Amino acid sequence: MEIRVEREKAEKYPCELLLLFSFESPEELFGPARNVDSEWKGFISSLIKQGDFKGGFCECQLLYTQGAFPARRVLLTGLGKRNEFDLEKWRCASSKAGQFIRDAGVKRFAFAIKKFDSFSLEELAESFLTGLLLGVYQFNEYKTLDREKIKEIEECVLVAETAEEMKPVQEGVRTARVVSKAVYMARDLVNGPSNTVTPTVLAEKAGQVAKDHGMKVQVFDVGEAEAMGMGAFVAVAKGSQEPGKFIVLEYNEGKGLDTVALVGKGITFDSGGISIKPSERMERMKDDMSGAAAVLATMQAAAELNLPLHLVGIMPATENLPDGKAYKPGDILKTLSGQTVEVISTDAEGRLILSDALTYSLRYQPKAIIDLATLTGACVIALGDYVIGFFGNDESLVKRIEDASAKSSEKGWKLPLWDEYFDYLKSDVADFRNVGTRAAGAIIGGVFLSKFVEKVPWVHLDIAGPASIDKARPYIPAGGTGAGVRLLIQFLMDWKS
Ligand code: BES
Ligand code: MN
Ligand code: ZN
Repeated sequence: MEIRVEREKAEKYPCELLLLFSFESPEELFGPARNVDSEWKGFISSLIKQGDFKGGFCECQLLYTQGAFPARRVLLTGLGKRNEFDLEKWRCASSKAGQFIRDAGVKRFAFAIKKFDSFSLEELAESFLTGLLLGVYQFNEYKTLDREKIKEIEECVLVAETAEEMKPVQEGVRTARVVSKAVYMARDLVNGPSNTVTPTVLAEKAGQVAKDHGMKVQVFDVGEAEAMGMGAFVAVAKGSQEPGKFIVLEYNEGKGLDTVALVGKGITFDSGGISIKPSERMERMKDDMSGAAAVLATMQAAAELNLPLHLVGIMPATENLPDGKAYKPGDILKTLSGQTVEVISTDAEGRLILSDALTYSLRYQPKAIIDLATLTGACVIALGDYVIGFFGNDESLVKRIEDASAKSSEKGWKLPLWDEYFDYLKSDVADFRNVGTRAAGAIIGGVFLSKFVEKVPWVHLDIAGPASIDKARPYIPAGGTGAGVRLLIQFLMDWKS
C-alpha cells in the first residue's frame, strides 16, 4: 500500500473514499467529520439523529456523496464512547475501517487527520496507520487459485489541514511504516511452512537484513557450533537432515553504544523429537521459530529507525525431529556454559538451544538480555493465547518491559522465578534436568533459562500463546501474529542507560 501525506481540507479533497470517525451518539461530531457535515448540509448529523448511525465501536457505514463535495464516498466509522477511547481502540477502529474498505473493493482512500483530546497528532497518525496496515495483512503467497479475487488497498492518503500539522503526521507515518513492515516480516516467516522456512532460509533472511542495513552477520553451521562447545544446540540439530544454523546479527557494532542482546528461539519445526508429540495440531509447530522471527524483524526496524543502540540478535535455528542421529531421553549434554543437562524429554528442546544462545550472548557484555520463545504449552494453559508470559531476574528491566507492553498493547503478565522452583530441575546424574513437573511448567522453563545468564539483567518472554492464533482479532488476522515485535521496538525506542 502506498502511503502519502497531503495538505488539504477534508471537505475539499477529491478521492474515491473519505474515511471519517465519530464517537457514540449523542456525542457531537468533531474535527473533519463536523466540517464535512456542514458542507453536506447536516447529512451526517441527520443520519445520527434518526438513529441510522450510532457511532458504536467499529460500526461502519458507507455513504455516497452524490457530488455534495469532491469525495465520492464517505465511510463513517464508530469509535464507541469518548471516555473509553484510547490508542488501542484507535488501532482497532482503523483496522476495521481498513478491512471494510478493502472488502468493498475500494483501492484508494483518504483519511483526514486532526488532533483531538489529549492525544498528539504524531501518536494518532502512528496508531491509525499501524492498526490499518496490521489489520489488512494477508498471507496469500501459496494460493494459486482465484488470485484475481484477492482484494488489496493500493493507496492511503493522510490529509492534514495546515502546514504545521504535516510534520508530526509524517513522523507518525514513518514509525508506523517501519513497525508494520517488521511485523509483516515476522508474520510472513511464521506463516511460511517449515519446508520453506528452514534454518538456512532464516540465515539467508538475516544475511539480507544485514546487507540492506550495513549490519554484521555471522552464521555458524552445526560443525562450527560443535567446535565452539555448544553441546545443547548441536544435540537438537543432529536429529534433522535439514542443516541447523546458529545466526548472529549485529547492529551498530563497535560504536561504544549500550549493548542489548535479543535472543530468539528458532525451531523451524518442533515434532518433539524422540519424545514425539501427538499428531493432532502438530502442524502448528511450524510457528516454533516465532521468537527468532521477532528478533530478526526487530533488528530490521531498529536499523530503519536509527536507534542509538548496539544490538546483538542471536537466533539458534534448527528443526527438532526424531532420527537415527537424534538425541535421546537420558542423554547428558554439555552446554556452552560448561554446565551439564540430563535430557528427560527431547520435546523440551527450546530451552536447550536457548541455553547455548544465552551463554553466547554474554560475550558481548550486554546491559540487558531479552529472549523470546514459544517455550511452553504450560504458558498457554496459564495465560491463554492473548498474553505473553514475562519472567526476569531484574525488577527494573521487567518494569521497562511492562511499560513497553502497556504502550504497545501487547499484553503480558509477570510470573515468578523463585528459588523453590529450581528443586524440580535437580538431576542425579548431571547439573540439571531439562524438564521438571507438569505443574508450573512455564515457570520451570524460565528457571532453567535463568541458569545461563549469570548476573546480567535478563527478561524471558514466553510467547507460546500469542505467537499464532486461530481466531482473528481486530488488527491481528488468524495465523502468525508477529508477537513481541511491537513490544520490543517500543522497549528499544524508550531505552535509557
Ligand atoms: N514448542 C513447544 C511449546 C509449545 C506448545 C508452543 C504448544 C506452542 C504451543 C515446546 O518446545 C515444547 O514442546 N514444550 C514442552 C515442554 C515440556 C516437555 C516440559 C511442552 O510445553 O509440553
Ligand atoms: Mn518441544
Ligand atoms: Zn518447541
